Amino acid sequence: MPANIALLGSGLFAQNSYLPALLANPTDAVLHTIWSRSSTSAVKLLEAAKSSGIQGLDGKGSINVEHGDDGLDKVLSDPSVDAVMLVLPISRQPELVLRALKAGKHVMSEKPVGKDVKTARETIEEYEKTYQPKGLIWRVAENWAHEPMLLKARDIIQTTPNLGPVLYWHLRAEGVTLDGSKYQATEWRTVPDYQGGFILDGGVHSTAMLRTLLPTPPNTIISTAALHRTHLLPHDTITALALPSDEATVDPHGPPTALNAIRTANDVPGGIGKSSPQGIIFMSWALPDIPAESREPNGITVVCLNGQVTVRAEGTTERQWVINLSAANGSGVQSGKWSGRWCGVEREVGMFARAVAAAKQGKESGEENYGTPRGSLWDLAIIEACLSSNGRPVDVAKLIAGK
Ligand SMILES: *[C@@H]1O[C@H](CO)[C@@H](O)[C@H](O)[C@H]1NC(C)=O
Ligand SMILES: *[C@@H]1O[C@H](CO)[C@@H](O)[C@H](O)[C@H]1NC(C)=O
Repeated sequence: MPANIALLGSGLFAQNSYLPALLANPTDAVLHTIWSRSSTSAVKLLEAAKSSGIQGLDGKGSINVEHGDDGLDKVLSDPSVDAVMLVLPISRQPELVLRALKAGKHVMSEKPVGKDVKTARETIEEYEKTYQPKGLIWRVAENWAHEPMLLKARDIIQTTPNLGPVLYWHLRAEGVTLDGSKYQATEWRTVPDYQGGFILDGGVHSTAMLRTLLPTPPNTIISTAALHRTHLLPHDTITALALPSDEATVDPHGPPTALNAIRTANDVPGGIGKSSPQGIIFMSWALPDIPAESREPNGITVVCLNGQVTVRAEGTTERQWVINLSAANGSGVQSGKWSGRWCGVEREVGMFARAVAAAKQGKESGEENYGTPRGSLWDLAIIEACLSSNGRPVDVAKLIAGK
């Protein structure tokens, strides 16, 4: 029995990403209902759904359409709706997540999990206290945490024999955002009622990549935030140092030098350094509109003791992940190159639908859960730390705990 799903929201992302993802999971997910604030946009999405070939309720393209507050009440009180997928502006989602859970629906909501850590934490605590014990599922749709190629990169970094520990890494997420471009020209973007603007909304993908890939994700952030272009309020750029927790700091690697050299701290003014897997985060949406070939590549470079792993997002329409492992000479590590298309949205929709279908029978899907709200809370906390640090260290665990 597939999961009957109501799609709440009808924006660009619902149309461009959720419809294809539902279409790709026909045996697990049935598009039962489309809901939007306005009737016009709900009908527009319905038409897009039908022309995409989505089968709907009876396998013949029948999909319910609702709009406005009354329509939402109807969706949430309809016992034949198993789950809702929320693709709505960031600031509206937490309240609707709780409302849907209260109505007994399983929920998948878009990232970020909230507009700030406080709101997100409160929503998650309420879920964990009241709804999770009843067996209700809530997942956050962070597609990067579901991307098979990023999970592959994680395995390469963490399990390649002899590659050794991570020494340091640098993350780059840079983009051109022209005034009035289609993703910028939406109402909730031009009048942002949340921190960070594009930095929050786009940046959580990159921090989800850190969470997925790194064996020791950072815990202290020292950062500055800037706004370079007036149309990208409130901030369009962050430059940050990301430091691990103290336990991750170890003595330098390798045997003592064979040369006749200074070895002990007593011999060196200022002492001798330690090795801690630290990184640099750079994000900007303020890049001028220069040709694609002159832009620095986006992605992450992770430098390990015996080799380097790069993960790049390539292509604009058909997006690809490309992973390179470049081995150090004489290390015994095998170099390699892998690539694969982006399919995180497809995957998270399928995994959620299967989890809901299993829950209907009192079972579990038996698959990993890459959509935990607490995982997304961490992604959000890193961005909030970058935006609020203003040059001072922010302890991410404390930020998450509200201390
Ligand atoms: C990845 O590997 C390919 C082929 O080995 C090489 O041409 C390319 O420059 C590499 N890219 C990076 C980012 O290392
Ligand atoms: C690898 O190291 C060996 C030994 O030091 C050296 O002879 C060889 O030229 C190196 N190979 C490359 C590709 O740098």
